[in-house]
Amino acid sequence: MKTSTSILALATLASALPSQPVTKRACTSAVKLSGSENVFKSYTLHANSFYKAEVAEAVKNLSDKSLATAAAKVGDVGSFLWLDTIANIQKLKTELATDIPCKNVLGLVIYDLPGRDCAAKASNGELKVGEINRYKTEYIDVIAGILKANPNQAFALIIEPDSLPNLVTNIDETACQQSKSGYEEGVAYALKTLNLPNVVMYVDAGHGGWLGWNDNLKPGAEGLAKVYKAAGSPSQVRGISTNIAGWNAFDLSPGEFSKASDAQYNKAQNEKLYVELFGAALQTAGHPNHAIIDTGRNAVTGLREEWGHWCNVKGAGFGVRPTSTTGAELVDAFVWGKPGGESDGTSDTSATRYDSFCGNNDAFKPSPEAGEWNQVYFEELLKNAKPQF
Ligand code: BGC
Repeated sequence: MKTSTSILALATLASALPSQPVTKRACTSAVKLSGSENVFKSYTLHANSFYKAEVAEAVKNLSDKSLATAAAKVGDVGSFLWLDTIANIQKLKTELATDIPCKNVLGLVIYDLPGRDCAAKASNGELKVGEINRYKTEYIDVIAGILKANPNQAFALIIEPDSLPNLVTNIDETACQQSKSGYEEGVAYALKTLNLPNVVMYVDAGHGGWLGWNDNLKPGAEGLAKVYKAAGSPSQVRGISTNIAGWNAFDLSPGEFSKASDAQYNKAQNEKLYVELFGAALQTAGHPNHAIIDTGRNAVTGLREEWGHWCNVKGAGFGVRPTSTTGAELVDAFVWGKPGGESDGTSDTSATRYDSFCGNNDAFKPSPEAGEWNQVYFEELLKNAKPQF
């Protein structure tokens, strides 16, 4: 008896030691994913430690302490980790040193193209137009190296939100014209280089209020297909991501903007319809067409003056939690793409990255720089959550 007590004591002590590498729940053999299967059927989107830490900090700073129990639960929701700068690749390394269960898929957003966010200002990136070699060697190659070095870990990637959609609808803007070749070359390079057995990829396709317009479906799908084919039609591309950092409802009918004067020109009045319509166009164009949809902040509808308003929409609430039960054949999963509580852009009119969309009447103010935490906004998302936490 004495022996077993001391073993127990030792075991307790060992589990309390902070410096031990924690790998006990990780897979013990190589993960094999493929673009022909829905990874979210067998894997759970991982609740990463960065969002957990942001939420834990927010819980400490709540203006309304009665929200504490509910607020704490937000940190357990699976969400995507944004690798939005070369320096932030470190976040991936840090995350991989934590204890990620074998059946969890780590969601990452690849987001650092040269001339990023060409039609807006709020998320302009660190690489200038023309810095494609830095994108390849200092960003994509480095990430690919890390993913290769972790063959037992499953990864789901969202590829470059807004980039290819901007080339369809905002090509009249000089910045997008200048960015075009870098976006196409960069996304193709990302798809080719990150095409690894433990990875599935979803190329960003905007949302129904963007490429869902009748006239945009075909050029949008062809734009994605061109890049996918230039990458050699990589096997791990599963399809598209939609509504990333967006506000559209999944299946609201009639759709939120169905009464708008131009509604007749857009049949993709919700994301479900968008995935069906754009999915058909993708199939014709020769691009995989399964989808993941961001439901992180889409609980409340009727908030935007216009469909294209994207910045810190006032009155929004956390939406449906990540799940592969979507009821739609082409929709692999609802995911949390944008980490709710992080800003879409600053409302400071004197900031270099101030975009007038963040000054709209329907945009929450004050708001910090894109990606930074907005405590008051987080509390609003929580209070307006559907389902409630
Ligand atoms: C920002 C990124 C940030 C991401 C997630 C984007 O709008 O530009 O810096 O990581 O949102 O919050």
